[in-house]
Amino acid sequence: MKYIVKGGRELGGTVRVQGAKNSVLPILAASILANDKCEILDCPHLSDVKTTTEILKELGCKVTYALNCVSVDPTDAFNMEIPERLMRKLRSSIVFLGAVTMRMGKARVSMPGGCLLGARPIDLHLKALKSLGIKVKEEAGFIETDASEAKCANVHLAFPSVGATENTILAAVKIKGESVITNAAREPEIIDLIAFLNAMGARITGGGTGTIHIEGVPSLRGISYRIIPDRIAATTYMCMAMATNGEIELENVRREHLTAITNELREEGARIEFFGDRAYLRAPRKIKSADMIKTMPYPGFPTDAQSVFMPHLIKGDSTSVIVENIFENRFRVADELNKMGADIVTEGRSAIIRGPRALTGARVIAPDLRGGAALVIAALSAQGESVVEDAGHIGRGYESFVENITALGGDIRINNTADY
Ligand code: UD1
Repeated sequence: MKYIVKGGRELGGTVRVQGAKNSVLPILAASILANDKCEILDCPHLSDVKTTTEILKELGCKVTYALNCVSVDPTDAFNMEIPERLMRKLRSSIVFLGAVTMRMGKARVSMPGGCLLGARPIDLHLKALKSLGIKVKEEAGFIETDASEAKCANVHLAFPSVGATENTILAAVKIKGESVITNAAREPEIIDLIAFLNAMGARITGGGTGTIHIEGVPSLRGISYRIIPDRIAATTYMCMAMATNGEIELENVRREHLTAITNELREEGARIEFFGDRAYLRAPRKIKSADMIKTMPYPGFPTDAQSVFMPHLIKGDSTSVIVENIFENRFRVADELNKMGADIVTEGRSAIIRGPRALTGARVIAPDLRGGAALVIAALSAQGESVVEDAGHIGRGYESFVENITALGGDIRINNTADY
């Protein structure tokens, strides 16, 4: 699938921000631990959510996905194995490992897939499960677990990995006694998972801090739960307004989740105001370059946001530097942006963006989800027409992306033919 984008317009208007992709996926995995049906509200329509619902169906859950509500009834779940073709489709499939192990007593999964951002190992996940007494066997790309001797424990994570923290919570939530996770991830999506589980009857404290206490409970009840807003989608639309010299109002945002982003954008000259759950951003006439953006675990600058910052930094008044500390191979979009006239040099974990440069339309290839969104932003800010190939990546994380951009006044259409 390709997007055809004609650039050069100032974008303006209002966008409602979708529910958070990175919350929905672990929460859907958690729903298999319930005794009865869960309803997840404000669930965005994304291919990654669709894949997750397919995993749930494979496990034997009854699942419906209508409008923005996914309902999961795990009462008759019978399967402890997730097929490789589904595991390979997305990285966060690995959070099913802890949940399925505790629901079925055993699990069998292959190594997960997802965007190609670097090695993306799962050693921390497996080590944490082993600390909880779960037997883990790795063989020929498959992982088998056995929870017959699972017990509460203190689990220390060598790095505050989001996925490993989620897996550990899901494994420990029904183990008798108190488990403690130290050096846990503090991302809002972890807090959302904990709020979901606590609403089901779990007893978890410390979400949003580095130490999470989990007092195991024997059962969890089905509930209705609304997902938090997607801070990365909000960031993407803010950066779209920056790159097109536009102004935007976002509905459904949490100000406190966006602090690292809005601090940075204000330093670059943006005017940003919040009114309750709405944010308003007006791009500056001249963008001030970013001396140094370093991606870090939350509350630091998110790795998911660095690609979508590049298009407006290309227009910055001098040189910007981005240092990627989470993934070792997350600058693949730079070569594509250079085809449009950017001057970005990457060296190891650093990207040096020399501005100001004017972009012109070109044929480019989306390397991954956030890189794809960055190319669309660049194309909207470029003179002339661009073709963004492999745009299917974008549908993994953004709901109604084309419709939202059109509503903001952008000229973008989808092309499914091979010959364009
Ligand atoms: C990461 C991001 C998360 C983002 C998601 C999707 C961080 C800390 N995490 O979560 O905010 O939403 O990508 O893009 O920014 N690691 C290991 N062994 C493991 C697990 C992880 O070495 O078992 C390393 C990874 O290689 C990486 C770092 O830890 O360098 C962060 O990984 P982690 O937080 O687990 O990644 P995700 O859960 O994918």
